[in-house]
Amino acid sequence: MSRETLTITDNRTGKVYEVPIAEGTIKATDLRRIKTGDDDFGLMTYDPAFMNTASCRSAITYIDGDKGILEYRGYPIEQLAEKATYLECAYLLLHGELPNKPQLDDWVRDITHHTIIHENVKKFIDGFRYNASTMGMLISTVAALSTFYPDAKNIGDPENRKRQIHRLIAKLPTLAAFSYRHIVGMPFAYPDNDLSYTGNFLNMMFRMTELKYKPNPALERALEVLFILHADHEQNCSTSAMRSIGSSRVDPYSAVAGAAAALYGPLHGGANEAVLRMLQDIGSTSAIPEFIKKVKGGDGTRLMGFGHRVYKNYDPRATIIKKIAYDVFEVTGRNPLLDIALELERIALEDDYFVTRKLYPNVDFYSGLIYQAMKFPVDMFPVLFAIPRVSGWLSQWVEMLEDDDQKISRPRQIYTGPARRDYVPIVKRS
Ligand code: ACO
Repeated sequence: MSRETLTITDNRTGKVYEVPIAEGTIKATDLRRIKTGDDDFGLMTYDPAFMNTASCRSAITYIDGDKGILEYRGYPIEQLAEKATYLECAYLLLHGELPNKPQLDDWVRDITHHTIIHENVKKFIDGFRYNASTMGMLISTVAALSTFYPDAKNIGDPENRKRQIHRLIAKLPTLAAFSYRHIVGMPFAYPDNDLSYTGNFLNMMFRMTELKYKPNPALERALEVLFILHADHEQNCSTSAMRSIGSSRVDPYSAVAGAAAALYGPLHGGANEAVLRMLQDIGSTSAIPEFIKKVKGGDGTRLMGFGHRVYKNYDPRATIIKKIAYDVFEVTGRNPLLDIALELERIALEDDYFVTRKLYPNVDFYSGLIYQAMKFPVDMFPVLFAIPRVSGWLSQWVEMLEDDDQKISRPRQIYTGPARRDYVPIVKRS
């Protein structure tokens, strides 16, 4: 009968070890028994960028990258994108089950009644320069919220955590919209509690002099779907940052600020901005072959919005986004960059370079085109990713805090520096 173990022979010593296998993994700490002598620390694994290391057990999001499957708590993303609202998905991620009607009503009310920010926050938003990045402003203002809610330090109390979760999900759109209004020199538009989560965000972003802002239903729904698609994506860079920072038991505002900073980079949440700039630089479909040649030439140019660490197939979110792009363009008019994107995708999917490396469009390839058509400035694209992702970060944070296996994050290293040597006074240094 087969055993759920791994037998390892250490050829340095000839010793044989048996290591248990559970859920398709071995425990890295089990390898520490493998030593060459008493003063040997024990065997470690070397895994830069966590290419093959599970850092936690999680019941939140399931991805099968080869098949292009994404599920939140077991529900396929396609069904959620078609039928659910963003706040319903946020509840699902955080609580593990879809809410019933009274639960959803309470949840929506709790979020809606935390959308206003302390008036002092407006003062430091005012302090940013006219050309400040809205993502930089969001990261800073979220971090600053920890000073307004010192009780948030009490992360061991589930009721307290719940209050901070309501605040964070509710206030991120307000901070984002106020940052935008500061840049464009418009007065802040206060939250309207009669509107949906996305309808209110559009209100705070784009309201002019009208007494009551009425979001376009097609755009409100498109944003809702985009928010659903971006809500969680298991152990990506920013979520790992959230868990890692949170493992020090810091308050959730500081941890979310760190996660948002991780999201800001062009290889992560900054990619949709990079896609749009790339499409603008290419300029016309006739310039695509030259651009593809450059990407393949190995000078470091990447086809932004293509490729993914986990998906080695079409990102299921990209398929849904491509469809909503057409709904949005019916209202806003067609984004002229769409033709370049479609042709770029067609050529890349037929090209051996991309086929053999399993590089397919990811979530960011079309989302920027939609956001631009909806009149969001390019600089705000990472912000539009961070707003919905906060529910995922917080779900993962709570799961981490309640997991008895977890401790403060602290990877090991292979030291490659000089061996011990004595200090040399400056006058004797060459
Ligand atoms: N364009 C051209 N070549 C690429 C691309 C790309 N977008 N992505 C990967 N490759 C190539 C690499 O050069 C490498 O080729 P090689 O084997 O000849 O050296 C091979 O494909 C494997 O690439 P890695 O960088 O090892 O893959 P990794 O899993 O580390 O990177 C990543 C994944 C960062 C997403 C990468 O595909 C990329 O940079 N894509 C563009 C940026 C992007 O769209 N990011 C958004 C990701 S989705 C998200 O965060 C929401």
